[in-house]
Amino acid sequence: MKVLIVGSGAREHALAWRIKQSPNLTRLWVASGNAGTAALAENIEIRSSDVGALVAAAQKVAADLVVVGPEGPLALGLADRLDEVGIPVFGPSQAAAQIEASKAFALDLMRDAGVPCPDFAAVWDEASASTYISSHPGPLVVKADGLAAGKGVLICEDSQQAQAAVKLCMSDRAFGEAGDTVVLEEYLTGPEVSVFAFCDGERLSPLAAACDYKRLGDGNQGPNTGGMGSYSQPDLWTPELAAQIERTIMQPVVRAMSERGSPYKGVLYAGLMLTDAGPKVLEFNCRLGDPETQVLMPKLASDPLDLMLACAQGKLDPASVRWDTKSYVGVAMVSGGYPEEYQTGFEISGLDEADSGETMVFHAGTKLGPDGISGPPLTSGGRVLTVVGGGDSIEQARQRAYARLERISFQGANWRRDIASAANQGAANPARQGAG
Ligand code: AMP
Ligand code: GLY
Repeated sequence: MKVLIVGSGAREHALAWRIKQSPNLTRLWVASGNAGTAALAENIEIRSSDVGALVAAAQKVAADLVVVGPEGPLALGLADRLDEVGIPVFGPSQAAAQIEASKAFALDLMRDAGVPCPDFAAVWDEASASTYISSHPGPLVVKADGLAAGKGVLICEDSQQAQAAVKLCMSDRAFGEAGDTVVLEEYLTGPEVSVFAFCDGERLSPLAAACDYKRLGDGNQGPNTGGMGSYSQPDLWTPELAAQIERTIMQPVVRAMSERGSPYKGVLYAGLMLTDAGPKVLEFNCRLGDPETQVLMPKLASDPLDLMLACAQGKLDPASVRWDTKSYVGVAMVSGGYPEEYQTGFEISGLDEADSGETMVFHAGTKLGPDGISGPPLTSGGRVLTVVGGGDSIEQARQRAYARLERISFQGANWRRDIASAANQGAANPARQGAG
């Protein structure tokens, strides 16, 4: 199979790394990739928002499958355009991607399907927001409806903060048109877990679970980021919990999407909070998580291309999907100053060690030399690498990840020291401290 992966982060490097091991693969391209994917595949310089150029590239290389990493191109209809030209695609249609692209859509779908979620209201003007806020004293969560690069979630302690957050979205338009509709939600507490299912429109695979860390600093301090680390699988993940989540959340959603005429194909990612009243959905994403993918791809024991093609073609055999029982921990190395201002162009040393089953290094913001084509690996973004360790326990995986990380360096490198530490598991994102 000739395969084109869309995206340029560590998630896409991890996908390329896993797909590269498939005996079904003949040739691999990544658009636009990074220095890490350049060692496994041919990078093609196309922005992931350029749907027309991506379709043209897939046609030019006669791709047998396109694997889409980020949500942006899915929300813009990349899967629909590929479908029109007969190229199988792993990722949902524009209509199905609404599950991530509109929080109001997702909540409405959940309410219809009886899926446990916070009490909520979707509002289009500040007056309606005020009505909901005044009848719901206490903490509330205010969310911009649309895609806001993980920034449109505001945790509010009281009604006054909630009013200010609504104003920020609606009058100040801090998130542009993503905030023209605002969702107000009941504030929930509990450990968070990211849950993933491969779907073919009707059926879904056995679930996989991981936890991610959104805050910049140790002890979940500091600003939100695109993700500072992850591990799989959490101790709290039991077969009973998995069965409950499959029955009460994942299956009803896949059924409801099919009934609405937009069957869900690709990966369905549920961000859940395990409340005292059971698991509830905080959000759905229409793609794999970053940095969760970096700790899930090593656990995927089935052939990734068989699996992704079966999802694309509506032929998934759930029994064929197997997850390895090993543990993995991923630690993000980021540029000094990230997620605010940071400098790039620094040489990265310590990358020449071959990846083993015990550790892997997945690239995000990296490029080969100043021209991006040849030369030593340089930093080129805020999130630079995810260093992954594997082992028989989370603790062993964690030690291996950090030992490997210590042998890599670049000027200004920053990372968290407490990813998957015993004290910090199951409490990676205390919601009270804000949101991503
Ligand atoms: P989201 O992008 O919707 O997953 O929200 C980002 C983060 O905000 C989540 O990981 C939670 O930590 C927090 N959050 C979102 N919704 C709620 C809620 N209803 N109650 C408490 N925390 C929430
Ligand atoms: N890990 C959070 C996300 O991918 O959205």
